[in-house]
Amino acid sequence: MGKAAVLIGIDQPLEIRDDVDVDAPHAGEVKVRMAASGVCHSDLSMQNGTIMAGMPPIVLGHEGAGVIEEVGPGVTKLAPGDHVVISWVPQCGECYFCTRGQPQLCEQGGIAMATGGLLDGTPRLKSQGAPLPQMAASGTFSEITVVPEIGAVKIPADFDLKLAALIGCGVLTGAGAAMNTAQIHQGDTVAVVGCGGVGLNVIQGARIAGATEIIAVDMNETKLALAKEFGATATVNASQGDPVSQVMEMTGQRGADVAFEVIGLQQTIDQTITMTRRGGQAILVGVPKMDAMINIPAFFGVVFSEKTIKGCWYGSSDVQRDVPKLIDLYQKGQLKLDELVSRTITLEQVNEAFDAMKTGEVARSVIKY
Ligand code: APR
Ligand code: ZN
Ligand code: ZN
Repeated sequence: MGKAAVLIGIDQPLEIRDDVDVDAPHAGEVKVRMAASGVCHSDLSMQNGTIMAGMPPIVLGHEGAGVIEEVGPGVTKLAPGDHVVISWVPQCGECYFCTRGQPQLCEQGGIAMATGGLLDGTPRLKSQGAPLPQMAASGTFSEITVVPEIGAVKIPADFDLKLAALIGCGVLTGAGAAMNTAQIHQGDTVAVVGCGGVGLNVIQGARIAGATEIIAVDMNETKLALAKEFGATATVNASQGDPVSQVMEMTGQRGADVAFEVIGLQQTIDQTITMTRRGGQAILVGVPKMDAMINIPAFFGVVFSEKTIKGCWYGSSDVQRDVPKLIDLYQKGQLKLDELVSRTITLEQVNEAFDAMKTGEVARSVIKY
């Protein structure tokens, strides 16, 4: 029996259950003893009903790392004792998307995402006598979980698992948005709207990719200060005047070469597209409500201005390629991970981590098991 933090209803605090039974991994699956899990805004978005990926009761958490405890039949790439980062998009390497260099869109992930199960649609956790679904084929708010083999990436055993957990979502998504989705060029001027756990990684990804001007936009001064630490060259406080006109002013009224939306609000999505220069790219990273719409004039906003509006899912990451690459960048001192950890907490404190996220106090709270 283990412990897990379970969403039992929209807008309800997560319930800490201690009766969670974990089945043996099925074929192609691995059992992982979690070492750490970040608390990401997408977990909060599950709680408040913004994201609907499986129905409560469901174990949240999708940004984690741990140690393999047991492997199911047919597992060849992982063995007990291996340290892994959880990939909340399992990447099969063989489907239409994987073979076209877009593994972040892998066909395998869809069923898991929609049902709260693993690749066959069923979860491996049980609580109160019933199957207990797992968010995004992960459920990293559980001491022990089972994930598809293709949803775990082996990392060196001496790498800090608390930092590895953050790579699993915020870093892959944010740094990937800059390095993979946008393919920032040397000398680009970039704007990043929203400087939370994901946005800070967009900023450092842009810095590493060679952007020279990085304008950070947020409403929270603590976040703007952190943004500077991560590589922002200028900041805009969106609560003090229109952020679009402030960014336009900073870019000679041209707009940013690449602007990123990293919150998931209809208003900031429109702002981000508007502050993108003619011929530039607006990259939409934040996950909006399912009924949010983009409101941009078709002619002046897109056709005449020849803007690219590009969605970004999981930082367009190939996890087997990018997790080692990010670890390498960290070891070379180019990628910041320690500075992302605002608080280290216990599983029982997960609801406090949600509150801290709502008030914008933290980059990341990280659960250490
Ligand atoms: N204008 C500018 N900044 C804002 C606004 C606004 N209108 N509203 C919120 N913010 C800022 C907050 O102050 C905070 O710093 O956006 C940031 C959001 O950060 P987090 O809550 O830490 O969220 P994060 O985990 O970074 O996720 C961002 O990416 O993966 C998705 O689902 C996730 O949609 C979410 C987004
Ligand atoms: Zn996330
Ligand atoms: Zn695939």
